[in-house]
Amino acid sequence: MLVKTAEFVMSNTDVRKLPEPSLPEYAFIGRSNVGKSSLINALVNKKGLAKTSQKPGKTQLINHFIIDKAWYLVDLPGYGFAQTSKKNRAEWERFIRRYLTKRENLQCIFVLIDSRLEPQKIDLEFCRWLGEQGLPFLLVFTKADKQSIMKSDQNIAKFKKSLLAWFEEVPSLFLTSAEKRQGMDEILATIDGINKNFVSPIVDQ
Ligand code: GTP
Ligand code: MG
Repeated sequence: MLVKTAEFVMSNTDVRKLPEPSLPEYAFIGRSNVGKSSLINALVNKKGLAKTSQKPGKTQLINHFIIDKAWYLVDLPGYGFAQTSKKNRAEWERFIRRYLTKRENLQCIFVLIDSRLEPQKIDLEFCRWLGEQGLPFLLVFTKADKQSIMKSDQNIAKFKKSLLAWFEEVPSLFLTSAEKRQGMDEILATIDGINKNFVSPIVDQ
C-alpha cells in the first residue's frame, strides 16, 4: 500500500470529542521515547507530521492523523516517563486506558518495544493488560538501526519467551527502523489487509 496523503486532524484528552468512529483506526503506544511519533512519520513518509523529540514525554495527547482520507493513525503519549508526577501518570492511565477500551473503530494496537533492550517489566505488563482486556495488538520492535540484527533477534526472542508465561501464542511482530524505513511496508500491508475487512460501527439511520 502506498500512502498518498497524511494530515493532522486533532489532539484530545477527552474520549468523547474524538472524530466520529466511521473509519478504521490504529493506535501506536509504548514507553516514552521508544519512537512512536518517528514510526508514524516513517510509515506515511512525512517528516514532522507527528512531533518527535530526543527528550521523553513529547507527545501528551491523543493525536489523530487521517491517511488517504480512509483510515486513522493515532499517536499516543508514552508510558513509564520517570520525570512526570504521580498525578500525571494516574491521569495518563485513565485517559489512555479509557481510549483503548472504548474506541469502537480501533482495529489494532501497535505496541512499540525498544529492540536494544532486554524485556522490560512495564512493556510486558502492558501487553498482559491488553490481553486481559481482549484487545488485539501487534508488536513493533524499534530502532533496529542502532545495533546488530543478532542483538535485536536475541532481545526479541527473550521478549517472546517472557510473553509466553501469560499468552498461548505471541502476536505477530515487526522489526523496524524509522531512520531507515525498515519494516514500514510490512506494517502498511497489515493495515491494508485489516482495512479491507472493516465494517463501520456507525449504522445509517
Ligand atoms: P514520546 O512522545 O515522548 O512518548 O516519544 P516517542 O515514542 O514518540 O519517540 P520519538 O518518535 O519522539 O523518538 C524519540 C527519539 O528516538 C528521537 O530522538 C528519535 O529521533 C529517535 N528515534 C526514533 N526512532 C528511531 C529509529 O528507528 N532509529 C534511530 N536511530 N532513532 C530513532
Ligand atoms: Mg511521541
